[in-house]
Amino acid sequence: MSEAPVTITLAENGWYTVEGPVRIVGSDGELIREGEKFFLCRCGQSNSKPFCDGTHKKCGFSDDGLGKRSTKED
Ligand code: FES
Repeated sequence: MSEAPVTITLAENGWYTVEGPVRIVGSDGELIREGEKFFLCRCGQSNSKPFCDGTHKKCGFSDDGLGKRSTKED
């Protein structure tokens, strides 16, 4: 039996929840973190990228409804 696929869930007007197992690797190839669940910044304003630090609330990030989307696109 294979492992469950990595799942990325969009939070409405917020972060990506990435559930793994997941390895986050920097552009230099170095491992940043490894684990089962991470919250990644989607607004681009986090002071601890690639992780969400809650700044999306202060900057009023809006995903224009994308976080609620229920249709698939390929
Ligand atoms: S999504 Fe939370 S700080 Fe960017």
